[in-house]
Parts: sequence; C-alpha cells; structure tokens
Amino acid sequence: MIVTTDDLFRQAYGKYAVGAYNINNMEQAIGLFEGNARAEAPFIVQIAKGSRDYAGVIMIENIILAAEKMYPDNIFAVHLDHGDEKTCYDCIESGFYSSVMIDASHESFDENVAITQRISSKAHEKGISVEAELGMLGGVEEDINIDEKHAMLTDPDEAKEFVNMSGCDSLAVAIGTSHGAYKFAGGQGLHFERIGAIQKRIPNFPLVMHGSSSVPKSEVDRINAAGGALDESARGVDEDEFARAIRLGVTKVNIDTDGRLVWTRVHREFFNDHPEVFDFRKPGVIMIEEYARFIEQKSTKLMSAGKLRDMRASVS
Ligand code: 13P
Repeated sequence: MIVTTDDLFRQAYGKYAVGAYNINNMEQAIGLFEGNARAEAPFIVQIAKGSRDYAGVIMIENIILAAEKMYPDNIFAVHLDHGDEKTCYDCIESGFYSSVMIDASHESFDENVAITQRISSKAHEKGISVEAELGMLGGVEEDINIDEKHAMLTDPDEAKEFVNMSGCDSLAVAIGTSHGAYKFAGGQGLHFERIGAIQKRIPNFPLVMHGSSSVPKSEVDRINAAGGALDESARGVDEDEFARAIRLGVTKVNIDTDGRLVWTRVHREFFNDHPEVFDFRKPGVIMIEEYARFIEQKSTKLMSAGKLRDMRASVS
C-alpha cells in the first residue's frame, strides 16, 4: 500500500526512523521489498533524477508497481529524492509519487522559501507530502558536488522561520553528514547539539537525515580484496547513533551509498570467484538476497522493524 511520508512520520516521530532507500533497478526493488517484508517495517522508496534518467521514468515506476504486487502487505511511500522545481511538478502531476523533495538549499534563504512554497501548494492540492532542505551537506549526490568548505550546518532559528513560511511537511537538515562514501575523515560524528537545538525550535516536526549510509569497513575491505580500489579511509554514520538522533526528531534516514556497496561487493566477488561465468542472473540472485538482508538489518537499527501492524491500523 502506497501512503504519504506524512502518514509514516505521524506514527514514527520520536520512536523510530523510516528508512528511505534509493533504488535504480529490479534487483534492488525486490531486495528492498523482501527485506522490509521480513522485518515488518514501513519504508520509503526513493527515486532520484539519476534513477529516472538511468532506467527511464516508465521503467522505474513500473518496477515499483510490480514490487507492490509481489509484496501486497508492505506499506511504503514513493518519494522523489533531490528534485528540482521542474521534476517536482512532473512527479506531482504523474499521480504516482506520494511525496517529493524540493532541494533549493543552494539558493538564498528567501528564494528557497519561495520555491518550496510553490511546490507545497501544488503538492498539497493533490495530497502529496513535501520535503525541503535547509543548510548544505557536503559530498557527491548525483551531479551535485559540494566540497566540505562550502558545506553548512542548518541554523536552528532559520529552520523555524523556514518551516513556518514554506509550508513543507519535513525538513532535511545538515547536521554533520555528507553524501557518498567519504563522510568522516577522523573521529567526527553527528552534531547532536545542533539536532537538539533544531528540535527545540520546531518540536514534533519531522527532520530528515541525508547522507546516512554507514559505509561498513568490512564491505570496503571485501570490495578492495576482490579488485576494487576504494579509499580505505571511507567512513559513514555510526549506526549506533541512530537511536539518539531519532529521539531528537530525525524521522527519515536516507541511504543510497550502502546499497551501491552491496551491489559492488556481490558482483566483484562473484566474477572474481567464477571468471568463466557470464550468466548475470547468478550474481543477481545473490544481490537480491544480500540486499534484502542489509535492509532487514538496517530496519532493526532504525527501530522501524516490527512497526508494520501499528502503521496499518493508523492508515487504514
Ligand atoms: P548516502 O550517500 O549516505 O547513502 O546518502 C544518500 C542520500 O542522502 C540520498 O538523498
């Protein structure tokens, strides 16, 4: 069942975070739906502009519809990740998305408010939820590359003003994470004092944490042992920090990089071990199972595992 992110956040706020996973192909879709079915977790399927370009809009949307038919008990939102204004309108008009993100965080504060207002009023007419972003995350996301010098934590006072003026339903905040595999060079982590200060200004308002992959060292090591050349210093978010962030209002946790690492590890190892094989369905089956396990385990860390029954009661 497709619901809005607003439906999900109303139940989850302060208790657990809903995992929001970027997908690009059929193997990821099946693994995602299977893993959440096993975990009995509500979740968010994220489609970024890059995914719409890669698979094609018709293909990626129909992959999700097919997965919904295969797993009729799952409850999830379909969300546009990092939309520009035009892509948001396309998705709002399409009738398929239950949630869109307008990312105008690179604009001035006033321009960000104005663009988000326009998207919010169009989306709300159709019952679609809107995520906006304030502050600037570092790292690489699709074709946007923000270097660490220009990354900027979200200002709590601005967050309050932004939410009041823009009409958005959730806010992506810059709280120390960044997109991609290279988030933390040393021992840094999430800026909890900043998340707490934001929650004080906008209590009960769902916060979104982008750049939340944990980039497990074991995964990086296995990829490199099988011929990869990832930087050994790659570090992500410590999964044990999720619980504290959730209590401070983080309700949506975005994960893309970790899924790519699963894919890369499975395929590198498989073709290394079986250089004579050219049947891609063999590693495909392994990928689906490994991705499903990854999702199941992540739902436990996000504390969304086992919450499907309560969610069903609240949305039906
Ligand atoms: P990661 O690169 O940490 O997976 O973050 C993805 C993300 O925030 C997508 O919006």
